[in-house]
Amino acid sequence: MTSTTLTAPAVALGTWAWGDSGEAGDGYFGSRLTEAGLREVVDKAQSSGLTMWDTAVVYGMGRSETVLAQALKGYDRSEYQLSTKFTPQIAGDGDDPVADMLAQSLDRLGTDYVDLYWIHNPADVARWTPRLIPLLRNGLIRHVGVSNHNLDELALADRILGEAGFRVEAVQNHYSLLYRSSERAGILDHCRTKDVRFFSYMVLEQGALTGAYGPDHPLPDGSSRAVVYNGMLPRLQALTGRLATIGAGRGASAADVATAWAIAKGTIPIIGVTKPGHVDGLSKARDIELSDEEIAELEALADATGVDTRGGWEREM
Ligand SMILES: NC(=O)c1ccc[n+]([C@@H]2O[C@H](COP(=O)([O-])OP(=O)(O)OC[C@H]3O[C@@H](n4cnc5c(N)ncnc54)[C@H](OP(=O)(O)O)[C@@H]3O)[C@@H](O)[C@H]2O)c1
Repeated sequence: MTSTTLTAPAVALGTWAWGDSGEAGDGYFGSRLTEAGLREVVDKAQSSGLTMWDTAVVYGMGRSETVLAQALKGYDRSEYQLSTKFTPQIAGDGDDPVADMLAQSLDRLGTDYVDLYWIHNPADVARWTPRLIPLLRNGLIRHVGVSNHNLDELALADRILGEAGFRVEAVQNHYSLLYRSSERAGILDHCRTKDVRFFSYMVLEQGALTGAYGPDHPLPDGSSRAVVYNGMLPRLQALTGRLATIGAGRGASAADVATAWAIAKGTIPIIGVTKPGHVDGLSKARDIELSDEEIAELEALADATGVDTRGGWEREM
């Protein structure tokens, strides 16, 4: 059995954009991140009790894991939790591609275990899920989650692990005001009733919901996120405007309110922090209580945008 129950802070920190830092970055976010700046982000988060860090091999092809390990240097391993992923699409052709990919992640992360290990997407649930069992048994991974899996795939993964005395303890799906397919598909309810943590990713739609970007000041030119979101920005203005107004009444920003919404829905947002100020916002978001009326109003404004922010790697739930 998994030795301890998975515990997680109210908000986890995402580091996809950190794969952009330095020359080896993949440029998806078009971000300019420095080692010193990310160290400041880590220090602020750690001292605020935000200690769970989500990464993946494919974020800058190892760069995010490497940069995260550098930024966490000096902290005792017991002071933070690492969450990283097996991505089936880049599996090697050795005898055990899952163990191999994990070994490379452990090396980059400078650790001998991962707190929460994810199957990144449901490429072949019956093939990859059993590979996690020996890794759980020998303590290289402490807890297992599935990402981008629908309810049937989640149930299959859980059944496979269950036969060995383990279980799927967490789900990680795209979930934001603009993209609520996991809620409509009953995955949120399933997680609530089965005591599975639901981690919501892209709560801020990669910056498009923060109010920091708009038609006059779009996302960084040439970045992949700009290609996806810049055309939508005019249609998001009523929503981001309302998020900002609700935030202003509480000394918080639009991004903080979008994050508070995800917490109010019973999820653990994974927020892609790139600046120390973002961490201050997360501390505020934890304390914001939205009324049912505010939640309904924000969701109605989100629906009225008519945009579809499903990622190219996702399928409808
Ligand atoms: N499992 C999966 O398939 C999957 C897929 C996507 C993401 N994820 C995980 O989820 C995490 C979050 O997703 P994401 O990073 O793609 O997008 P996100 O969290 O929706 O947005 C991140 C961007 O929002 C801006 N931002 C963050 N905090 C802010 C704040 N408080 N105020 C204003 N702006 C703020 C930053 O943009 P600027 O740098 O421009 O300021 C940042 O790059 C990822 O890092 C990754 O760990 C998982």
